[in-house]
Amino acid sequence: MANSIIQNQTYLTFMKAKHILSYFFLLFFVIILSSCKTDKPSPLEPIYDFTKTMIDDSAMVVTAHPIASLAGYDILRQGGNAIDAAIAVQFSLAVCYPIAGNIGGGGFMVYRSSDGTIDALDYREMAPAASTSDMYLDQNGNAIAEKSQNGALAVGVPGTPAGMYEAFQKYSKLKDWKALLAPAIHSAENGFRLTFRQAGLLNKNKTKFDKYNTDPVVFNSKNWKGGDLLIQPELATTLKAIANEGPTGFYGGKVADQIVNQMKKSGGIITHEDLKNYQAIWRTPITTNYRDHKIISMPPPSSGGIALAQILGMVENFNLAEMDYHSAEHIHVVVEAERRAYADRATHLGDSDFYNVPIASLINKDYLKSRMADFNPEKASVSDSIIAGQMKESLQTTHYSIVDQEGNAVSMTTTLNGGYGSKLVVAEGGFLLNNEMDDFSAKPGTPNMFGLIGAEANKIEPGKRMLSSMTPTIVEKDGQLLLVCGTPGGSTIITSVYQTVSNVIDYGMTATEAVQSPRFHHQWLPDKLILEEVGFDSLVINALADKGHKVMKRGKIGKVEAVRFLSNGNLEGAADIRADDDVKGF
Ligand code: DON
Repeated sequence: MANSIIQNQTYLTFMKAKHILSYFFLLFFVIILSSCKTDKPSPLEPIYDFTKTMIDDSAMVVTAHPIASLAGYDILRQGGNAIDAAIAVQFSLAVCYPIAGNIGGGGFMVYRSSDGTIDALDYREMAPAASTSDMYLDQNGNAIAEKSQNGALAVGVPGTPAGMYEAFQKYSKLKDWKALLAPAIHSAENGFRLTFRQAGLLNKNKTKFDKYNTDPVVFNSKNWKGGDLLIQPELATTLKAIANEGPTGFYGGKVADQIVNQMKKSGGIITHEDLKNYQAIWRTPITTNYRDHKIISMPPPSSGGIALAQILGMVENFNLAEMDYHSAEHIHVVVEAERRAYADRATHLGDSDFYNVPIASLINKDYLKSRMADFNPEKASVSDSIIAGQMKESLQTTHYSIVDQEGNAVSMTTTLNGGYGSKLVVAEGGFLLNNEMDDFSAKPGTPNMFGLIGAEANKIEPGKRMLSSMTPTIVEKDGQLLLVCGTPGGSTIITSVYQTVSNVIDYGMTATEAVQSPRFHHQWLPDKLILEEVGFDSLVINALADKGHKVMKRGKIGKVEAVRFLSNGNLEGAADIRADDDVKGF
């Protein structure tokens, strides 16, 4: 008995020791495991929480990626204003949204301060000095799309670093340039997690990255999966040069050498002189009135503001509010206005510093009324019979909308043009270059990659800026901010912005309803009415076809980011459900 007690006690002591030991072993493993840097989130954890709609009382940032929204949000929290946040978002997108976010591209900003002052910044790319009007034509005079769309010859002189510094100098409240680049540098250095969509798009473009780059680049370095960390050390170094030296850190010194070397190696024509000469330009916004609202948008070299004002001006003569939303009657009127606006765009619009764009005449209300004089409610016009008045795409641009605590608003659209631009990376600098030269008219009447045609007004000339459709827009009602919106989508940008604005003004929608609503598009040529795949009634589609519209369906049109000011002083942020867009506010 005593023996067995002793045995029992020994056994218990042994068991206790074993327990304690295994406890320590377990602890040891937990410590080891948790100190290992894991490259993946658990498959059960979402990579990001995408917020698509929110209402709060102070400020809103809506962008294409949660990391960029956070960058803008943090700058606002640090006391920065909407311009500071916009600059931080632009640099952050260059890291976490490489398909369109950029330092090697350009864009446009429309600004409205809380006191009602309005301004517009053009940081659009520019044709290099050695460019010529026939640089994309073969010996038979036919345009070679490959040349204007991919590789070194497609690249316009980038405008983003200069544009951001211009905005900083004129309007920054934080007055700390380095702080605005800090979130981007952090994400480039430490990496950020790819969304599933981003991993898929990088993989899909692998062969193009292989084709247009001779040096190894990070974007095609592996088969990406959602949740993978994308680390960009070369880009971090370039961003640090911009942080330390301002735009000369990009347009001069080592980075300029890297760009010019890459050009020489890959057959491009951008020189040190081109980089040195680049300047962002402040422009006077296009303004128009639409049913007691003031619309503020981008002037040339974007066609966006003018075409938007034209569509609104033509449609204003019809009582949309009395038409059922997305009825054949409603869509028909809008499409006929779009058809006429895009016909004018093709003939009259280009860089107003090079070509005399008749802005006032194009947005004149009498002219716009007369433009619809031949409108037939029963019958679609035929685009070939619509000529300009007397006097195509996927989602690879990016827009963001910001309103700060003081009520200052920024509407900003930026792009490399196509997805990942020219696909050419400045290897030593770790950044992608645009293929914006394709936005010029390579040959009169020959469609560019968005199916848009142009002529003399948009022909290539050294130092000229290519015509854009980007339409960053702000809407006022009774002298108060009402809506900030914009979208990517090439030629569909203008019509998507139009629909967002009209949804709010004519149909009393919230920003969320206006953004998530199905979209349609017509751009004169090709003569097609494009509807989003989901959301249109088949009876309506048949009625439109009966009127003579050549109806086609397409997956998605546009990706709008909007902020709406509510009558109780709150702000509503709306991020498009069509992709990884995200709103953050407080
Ligand atoms: O400036 C423009 O109109 C075009 N480069 C925009 C390209 C674009 O939106 C591509 N993605 N969706």
